[in-house]
Amino acid sequence: ASATRREATSSVSASGETVELADINWDDLGFGLVPTDYMFVTKCLKGGDFPKGELVHFGNVELSPSSGVLNYGQGLFEGLKAYRKQDGSVVLFRPEENALRMRMGAERMCMPEPTVEQFVEAVKLTVLANKRWVPPPGKGSLYIRPLLMGSGSVLGVAPAPEYTFLIYVSPVGNYFKEGLAPIHLIVENELHRAAPGGTGSVKAIGNYAAVLKAQSAAKAKGYSDVLYLDSVHKRYLEEVSSCNVFVVKDSIISTPAIKGTILPGITRKSIIDVARSLGFQVEERLVSVEELLDADEVFCTGTAVVVSPVGSITYLGKRVSYGDSKVGAVSQQLYTALTSLQMGLSEDKMGWTVEL
Ligand code: COI
Repeated sequence: ASATRREATSSVSASGETVELADINWDDLGFGLVPTDYMFVTKCLKGGDFPKGELVHFGNVELSPSSGVLNYGQGLFEGLKAYRKQDGSVVLFRPEENALRMRMGAERMCMPEPTVEQFVEAVKLTVLANKRWVPPPGKGSLYIRPLLMGSGSVLGVAPAPEYTFLIYVSPVGNYFKEGLAPIHLIVENELHRAAPGGTGSVKAIGNYAAVLKAQSAAKAKGYSDVLYLDSVHKRYLEEVSSCNVFVVKDSIISTPAIKGTILPGITRKSIIDVARSLGFQVEERLVSVEELLDADEVFCTGTAVVVSPVGSITYLGKRVSYGDSKVGAVSQQLYTALTSLQMGLSEDKMGWTVEL
């Protein structure tokens, strides 16, 4: 830990309270790791239950070269965010949903699972211990990254004998360098992210290594990211490397249905509910790639990307543009509704925010 990042500055919140903030340039946050003060760790044996766990200083972890996670990718991650409200207090967004999703993934990957209560308590503990790293209102959020991994040694393919549940945090700003400006996607026609019966519907760490090749090629050509098609028909939309996708046509909002190869995003689910509460018709169904050609708007959703408008999509060399490089009206309306709720600027009628 450098001396600089341990220094703190204070600022005064809207309520007049003094809030301690880390001494960094809050106007300069992207989506990259800023090392913070503490992380949470607990370990248990295969078939066991995780004990209460503890906070330790943020730093490197020690793993056997033959650990299950390093050799066979027996690992899951989660992502959620904490926001600082105008009064200086901090809120989490739907942490139980991440706990439930990690439990589903743990079952698929043969790992012991923290209970929902244990997960949420550990998240709260980690955020409180790093409270000075929660950005001031409007400057970003504290990204919370829970990891569950086979940390014990194995040589043959088998579940590891020991597991680690760890949570670290980092202040973040926008995920895409475009910020809130529309991103540019290319549809991938050869490589796939997930296959039926695989692990596409859980947050397995390997799902994200699988996108790197197509993503790197797309970025080298100037695209922001890649939109994947289903691996059976090569025709139906699945998701983008790090987020779900929505298509708007004649004010009807459609998104690929969850069917085993698509990550059940918590922002995806929240946007569906928010859109319906605003009177939109929302359909979860097979969405074919041809539908992109005459869509009015396309946007992506995810914890990291929030709601990200899409400015163009390129498919088989043909580029379709949306909204004249401007944020579409539906994307903007949903972005504002969701983020106001997450940041505590509007009344949380859904009961989704959790005070620390
Ligand atoms: C998130 O949105 O939290 C994610 O998990 C995406 C991540 C791959 C950056």
